Amino acid sequence: MTPHQSGIDLWAADVLVDPYPTYRALRELGDVVYLTHSKLYALTGYDVIKDALADPTRFSSAQGIGFNDDVNQALQGTSLASDPPTHTQLRAALSENLTPRALRGLGEQIKANAQALVARLVKQPSFDAIDEIARRFPIGVVADLVGFQGEARANMLRWGQAAMEVIGPMNQRTAENFPIAGELYGYCSQITQDALTAGSVGWGVFEAENKGVIPAGAARHIIHQYLGAGLDTTLAAIGNTVALFGRFPEAFAKVRADLSLVPSAFNEVLRYYSPVHVWSRVTTQDVEVAGVKIPRGSRVALMLGAGNRDPRHYPNPEVFDVTRNPIDHLSFGYGPHGCAGQGLARMEGAAIIEALATQIKSFRIGEVARVPSNVTVSFDTVPVLDLEAA
Ligand code: HEM
Repeated sequence: MTPHQSGIDLWAADVLVDPYPTYRALRELGDVVYLTHSKLYALTGYDVIKDALADPTRFSSAQGIGFNDDVNQALQGTSLASDPPTHTQLRAALSENLTPRALRGLGEQIKANAQALVARLVKQPSFDAIDEIARRFPIGVVADLVGFQGEARANMLRWGQAAMEVIGPMNQRTAENFPIAGELYGYCSQITQDALTAGSVGWGVFEAENKGVIPAGAARHIIHQYLGAGLDTTLAAIGNTVALFGRFPEAFAKVRADLSLVPSAFNEVLRYYSPVHVWSRVTTQDVEVAGVKIPRGSRVALMLGAGNRDPRHYPNPEVFDVTRNPIDHLSFGYGPHGCAGQGLARMEGAAIIEALATQIKSFRIGEVARVPSNVTVSFDTVPVLDLEAA
């Protein structure tokens, strides 16, 4: 069967700021839709996306996971742009420092920092949740994780955002962000262990390199990946959390009344607004997906955000339900490349939700705004108004 076709541009500004009607339209066309504008096969349904993520033999990352040749070239040598067995080795080094055991100390600090941040904010009747929480909090966490000081700390936000933006197709946003992503690359390629706080996870990655546990030169790649992958994504998730609690006060009230709902609420935030809306693979052979033939060598867009709203998998997907606990959402990917930093991201999300739920009785939000962004779906402004402390 030939796929249904659509002329829609997934990266048009109006689609990026409100992608949900487009997700629905494409999903209703089929599980596989050929996007004539971008010359891509898009997978739109939950099951077909998950199957592709689970199958690196047919859906490969080796040619990169981005939508332009320059970024896919730049990613060569990283875990993201590799398949097993190479990936298995790179991944072991990458995730060893992000295991629950490695993160144990950081977890307590993250909780305390979240409580302190919200304690300062509840003294103000209004503030912008993106500036004051979503940007501030993950920068502190990733800077402490890697052990950054000085110059790097000041640039982390720009660098992290650019690293995600350049994964898009070669549009104006991608072109403008390449030089900034290059600054991050340049910084990481000359970073030395003594520039990092002794005892931090970043410092430990260098120790592992010194002891020959990971190959020479690998530490800088790993730190680059923590920064590239760990910031803009978490920023989006935390901003989305405040925006959704503001839009659905009854959901916030449920979490306040029962703090055991915190992990479920964060999963639902991630399902409802997938921070990474699209990612990609390349087919290594002719494949058949939902009866549609996709030729070998095709770039396939995995529409994580559309899969998370597939009504065949999640009943009433447009309803934000903090009791749903959708632990199988696609926002962290799935399979061998499934997010290596999800333990840390979950700690951050839970810490923020708990601090909001224990210290704030109620609030409302003013007009929220999104700026178009190639890969991450996040808000640029979420004004918190009329805050009443608990
Ligand atoms: C809510 C926040 C986050 C989201 C939504 C997210 C999303 C993702 C997704 C979708 C992938 C899969 C890539 C693929 O299949 O090719 C991934 C991989 C990855 N993530 Fe995250 N991420 C988040 C936070 C973090 C954090 C905090 C870190 C580290 C500090 C991190 C580090 C990584 C790394 C290193 C990979 C590559 C794993 C591999 O290639 O095997 N992420 N992430």
